[in-house]
Amino acid sequence: MIVKVHELVKKYGDVVAVDKVDLEINEGEIYGLLGPNGAGKTTFINIICDMVKRNSGELYLFDEKIDKSIQHLKKDIGVVPQTIAIYEDLTASENVAFFASLYGIKGDLLNERVKEALEFVGLSDHSKTYPKTFSGGMKRRLNIACAIAHHPRLVIMDEPTVGIDPQSRNHILNSVKKLNQLGSTIIYTSHYMEEVEQICTRIGILDHGKVIAEGTKEELQSIVTDRKTIKIKIGYDQVLDTRLLKDVKGVMCIAENANILTVECQKESDCISEVMAILLKKHIKVIDIQMESVSLESAFLSLTGRRLRD
Ligand SMILES: Nc1ncnc2c1ncn2[C@@H]1O[C@H](COP(=O)(O)OP(=O)(O)OP(=O)(O)O)[C@@H](O)[C@H]1O
Ligand SMILES: [Mg+2]
Repeated sequence: MIVKVHELVKKYGDVVAVDKVDLEINEGEIYGLLGPNGAGKTTFINIICDMVKRNSGELYLFDEKIDKSIQHLKKDIGVVPQTIAIYEDLTASENVAFFASLYGIKGDLLNERVKEALEFVGLSDHSKTYPKTFSGGMKRRLNIACAIAHHPRLVIMDEPTVGIDPQSRNHILNSVKKLNQLGSTIIYTSHYMEEVEQICTRIGILDHGKVIAEGTKEELQSIVTDRKTIKIKIGYDQVLDTRLLKDVKGVMCIAENANILTVECQKESDCISEVMAILLKKHIKVIDIQMESVSLESAFLSLTGRRLRD
């Protein structure tokens, strides 16, 4: 395993920022830590990369139990901090070179890695530019390049897309996926539900320092519902006796509104094929079918009693 924590606790005075957290992150995952402001995401990450000392609990990195310094493991970890940490008076490539050299990369390899990292985040054309002229999104991308040039096994990203435009955000999300495909395990914190849904293999929901739920997107959704909804759009001139569909195994209820049939059924049910067979038999023209499952947003709301951004 890449990261494992057991009963991890961090207190700031009376505030319990991380409250007996148990977590395991395996090689190859993109693990999403989702939580509202103050949930403890940054504190958790800072403990893992040894920037904050824990009060109690166990920490393992790359199967090694950590009791003292993680200096010897730092080359295997890349951190993209929540607050942009780049030097305005160094050019983009000098910034990346500076951070990569901290991990012992030098000479021709350093030049190669700087080039590669800037290319990776789409800043090759700006390698000689000073970041003070960069947009927020470009600075965020440079922040990422600085964290990955040394090819770490574990990349930790703390809200890397905050406050940037959708295009830059997509670019970053794609880079995260690509990094993962190239072999890095990723921890990705965010309060953007859609991002985590889009890229993460597993998600932990953090609230008031506790992991209150964990699983794949589908697993988290099924915590709050055992149903799914199928919306079937039929031709305007079609007449259907919906009673015909009520007896199909797995169907829980059916509603008809204008030309949309809404079929609610058990989550695991495969009733859709039988429903379609009946429609076909009755010569009903089907225009569109949409499956809707409960959103992660509503799962979160149901688990925490509040929205992500209040
Ligand atoms: N250095 C500190 N001193 C005192 N309290 C702190 C410190 N750092 C964090 N906290 C508190 O610990 C809790 C968790 O904060 P943390 O920054 O880890 O949350 P977060 O999930 O990263 O939030 P955000 O989404 O706003 O970045 C909060 O109540 C915060 O006020
Ligand atoms: Mg934070």
